[in-house]
Amino acid sequence: MQVRNKTNSKNLSTRFYIFPSNFFTNGLQFFTGKKKLMIAVAAMLVLLQFGTATGGGMLAKDGCQDKCGNFSIPYPFGIGPEVCFRQGFEVNCGPDNVATLVNSSIIIPLLDVNLDLSEARVQNNAIARYCKYTLENGTEQKDWTTSNFDIGPSFMVSGAKNKFIAIGCATVASIMIGPNYDNESFVTCACGSFCYQENMMYTGTECFGRGCCQSAIPAESLNSFYPSILFAIDNTAVQSFSPCSYAFIAEEGSFQFNPSYATSTTLNTTHGGGYPLVLSWVVGEETCVQAKNGASYACTSTNSTCSDVPGRGYRCNCSQGYHGNPYLVGGCQGQHVPILYHLCTSAILY
Ligand SMILES: *[C@@H]1O[C@H](CO)[C@@H](O)[C@H](O)[C@H]1NC(C)=O
Ligand SMILES: *[C@@H]1O[C@H](CO)[C@@H](O)[C@H](O)[C@H]1NC(C)=O
Ligand SMILES: *[C@@H]1O[C@H](CO)[C@@H](O)[C@H](O)[C@H]1NC(C)=O
Ligand SMILES: *[C@@H]1O[C@H](CO)[C@@H](O)[C@H](O)[C@H]1NC(C)=O
Ligand SMILES: *[C@@H]1O[C@H](CO)[C@@H](O)[C@H](O)[C@H]1NC(C)=O
Ligand SMILES: *[C@@H]1O[C@H](CO)[C@@H](O)[C@H](O)[C@H]1NC(C)=O
Ligand SMILES: *[C@@H]1O[C@H](CO)[C@@H](O)[C@H](O)[C@H]1NC(C)=O
Repeated sequence: MQVRNKTNSKNLSTRFYIFPSNFFTNGLQFFTGKKKLMIAVAAMLVLLQFGTATGGGMLAKDGCQDKCGNFSIPYPFGIGPEVCFRQGFEVNCGPDNVATLVNSSIIIPLLDVNLDLSEARVQNNAIARYCKYTLENGTEQKDWTTSNFDIGPSFMVSGAKNKFIAIGCATVASIMIGPNYDNESFVTCACGSFCYQENMMYTGTECFGRGCCQSAIPAESLNSFYPSILFAIDNTAVQSFSPCSYAFIAEEGSFQFNPSYATSTTLNTTHGGGYPLVLSWVVGEETCVQAKNGASYACTSTNSTCSDVPGRGYRCNCSQGYHGNPYLVGGCQGQHVPILYHLCTSAILY
């Protein structure tokens, strides 16, 4: 009954559509013995909840691959031929059934798509790491790495749902943006973390400045950045217990600090090498009024609404009382409660 709990959140997450295609027929086959009747009722209730959450259950365009493994890919996202996705929303389904965004500078796996909120959770592998330590023979050694995170103009890193996080004991880190990775970039947010002795580190899971610091992401549209660590900070005093610093953006709440992270030479990440990050999207750069009469207007379902995202463009939603996919013709549907309610009642009276 895990499915029911998730459905209760009322968010149209792709995770909710995972059920076998023969579910309905199997459900009906339960009507054979008295003992199995209860199971049938339960199955109908689950269907009822799917019904309200998914509307018509339409996700991908007709004739397009709608899943990558067991992960549903709702339009405007899409796999394969160009008619199956909207520009900027192309998804690659990898050999191991990992869905990744195609128009990106690094590999960005999709973790979840929420059409109601116009949000996608992705795995953010853009992590900056800088280590400086002194070898036994007195030689100072440095190694560092970072990645440019660029997902094109359709997406934005949500300022409300993510935080910039840095880890270390002599660490000043920042998010850099700009047209050129090496020379024309500038700081958009930064934070600092210092602990002169190992026992000064904050021992809880929060990020409070001793071993870990965090900063809000600017609310303006961030879709291309790289995390960076300021090399100029002298870490001689802390090298023996904290030779490395790390910096990244992560979904608020997805990261829990542990003092061992500031002393480790490899970062403990979730999701195999990254942290979840929440992106929001727009489907066009015009305003709703400008887009409405154009051929590429995205809110194609009846009973859908268009919302302006100031300075960025617009996105679509199903009208109040309707659910489904506003980006597909017939995608927003009313609740199918009456039919399913009838099935449930007859099952109970049986
Ligand atoms: C979906 O796939 C993932 C990874 O392959 C697996 O862990 C999970 O159990 C699958 N879920 C369902 C409902 O099949
Ligand atoms: C879209 O509609 C859903 C359900 O009516 C609502 O919860 C959500 O906030 C809406 N999203 C936007 C971006 O307006
Ligand atoms: C110190 O040790 C490193 C690694 O063993 C070596 O690469 C380096 O050349 C040595 N430096 C000196 C000055 O001996
Ligand atoms: C793909 O990404 C590049 C780099 O950000 C961007 O210039 C381009 O407009 C994007 N294309 C689409 C279709 O979003
Ligand atoms: C920045 O780097 C690019 C390519 O590396 C170069 O073409 C450009 O002239 C540089 N700009 C400045 C201001 O140094
Ligand atoms: C590393 O991360 C995993 C997953 O979040 C967690 O279960 C584990 O306890 C972490 N290890 C440490 C040392 O905190
Ligand atoms: C939904 O769309 C239909 C067909 O365009 C229309 O008749 C109906 O009034 C719409 N419902 C709402 C609540 O706007």
